[in-house]
Amino acid sequence: MTERQTDLPATDYGLLARQLEALLDTRDALTNSAQTCAFIMQSVPGLNWAGFYLHRLPETLVLGPFQGKPACNPIPFSKGVCGAAARSRETQRVEDVHAVADHIACDADSRSELVIPIVSDDGLWGLLDLDSPLPGRFDDQDQAGIEALMTVFAARTDLATL
Ligand code: SME
Repeated sequence: MTERQTDLPATDYGLLARQLEALLDTRDALTNSAQTCAFIMQSVPGLNWAGFYLHRLPETLVLGPFQGKPACNPIPFSKGVCGAAARSRETQRVEDVHAVADHIACDADSRSELVIPIVSDDGLWGLLDLDSPLPGRFDDQDQAGIEALMTVFAARTDLATL
């Protein structure tokens, strides 16, 4: 168990999952991805960027709906934390982005990062990327909680509509 290195209050991810289920009242992937990143940005403290990268080109991630500063686009599968998540299809949690050699610094303020791949029957659909200006912002509970939110998102969304 990795302890979060910040003194932010714990987030009630069970409550957030129920709220997200209620919020996603269409099956449209554009609407739901926009709503989901806005909801996470408002509900999870200590973030400076929350958004989706979509697998719309071969071995390439294309910037999708997001909240925060304008971001890097496109991102090849070969690069950065997002690329690692796309290649491995496993969540990437980075306590200190300065320690990651090929981290792509879209915003110099970002210090820690959580990237969750979203996989459908058709393969990798895209991923959710969360950035924080706080080192070690994300712990095991945050990872499990945000992964559960992505399970809600994928279950309530027709991913083929985007
Ligand atoms: N830092 C990411 C790039 C995306 S931005 O943070 C929005 C990476 O290294 O993949």
